[in-house]
Amino acid sequence: FFEEVPQEEKELIAKNPGSQSIEGYGTSLQKEVEGKKGWVDHLFHKIWPPSEINYRYWPKNPPSYREANEEYSKRLREVSDRIFKSLSLGLGLEAHEMKEAAGGEDIVHLLKINYYPPCPRPDLALGVVAHTDMSHITILVPNEVQGLQVFKDEHWYDVKYIPNALIVHIGDQVEILSNGKYKGVYHRTTVNKDKTRMSWPVFLEPPSDHEVGPIPKLINEANPPKFKTKKYKDYVYCKLNKLPQ
Ligand code: OGA
Ligand code: NI
Repeated sequence: FFEEVPQEEKELIAKNPGSQSIEGYGTSLQKEVEGKKGWVDHLFHKIWPPSEINYRYWPKNPPSYREANEEYSKRLREVSDRIFKSLSLGLGLEAHEMKEAAGGEDIVHLLKINYYPPCPRPDLALGVVAHTDMSHITILVPNEVQGLQVFKDEHWYDVKYIPNALIVHIGDQVEILSNGKYKGVYHRTTVNKDKTRMSWPVFLEPPSDHEVGPIPKLINEANPPKFKTKKYKDYVYCKLNKLPQ
């Protein structure tokens, strides 16, 4: 899609600038952020649940795109169920409680494809600026080109590429649900001089009207709530507009 499909065809599924929806094709090849040129194209579209899917934003080319993504989506639901169970047990909750608090069967799976072309001056460009994901968790597949870094103990670390491995980020919503026991991971990406980097994160998000706050069982006198309880859409609004939560 990013390399073979003509620009006019890409524009057909471009993100609508006036729209509330994040879905569609977008480019930050021209934009400047923090004095550096953004150097990444991306495509967002939902892959689950069926009621949220808008195939208008799914590329028609390559023709195998839809089938491959439906298969991936199915497998990913199995993985995400297992991760939610482990996260639950890790907090001393019953296995089902975390996913339930996260939105249960209505959890939205939003796929993003990042396309970072080779950049003649990697020093003047950035891929994705440092951030934490707003999602509950993010499950990401990268290609073999190095670029993802995570912040830990005051240092940026390269995330080593492991063939066939999935990278799982804790996002803001799981930090909130766990009342800070699980920390959202701060991460960023760099670009490469000679090689194209790609990554396929899937953000597992609450439905927009779903209220997210610390799970009541985790709260007591010794552990007061560290976060407000609010609708996910209000959280997103504050974060995107850099307003206090
Ligand atoms: C993102 C992101 C990381 C990557 O798109 O939110 O953090 O490896 N991407 O491309
Ligand atoms: Ni991210």
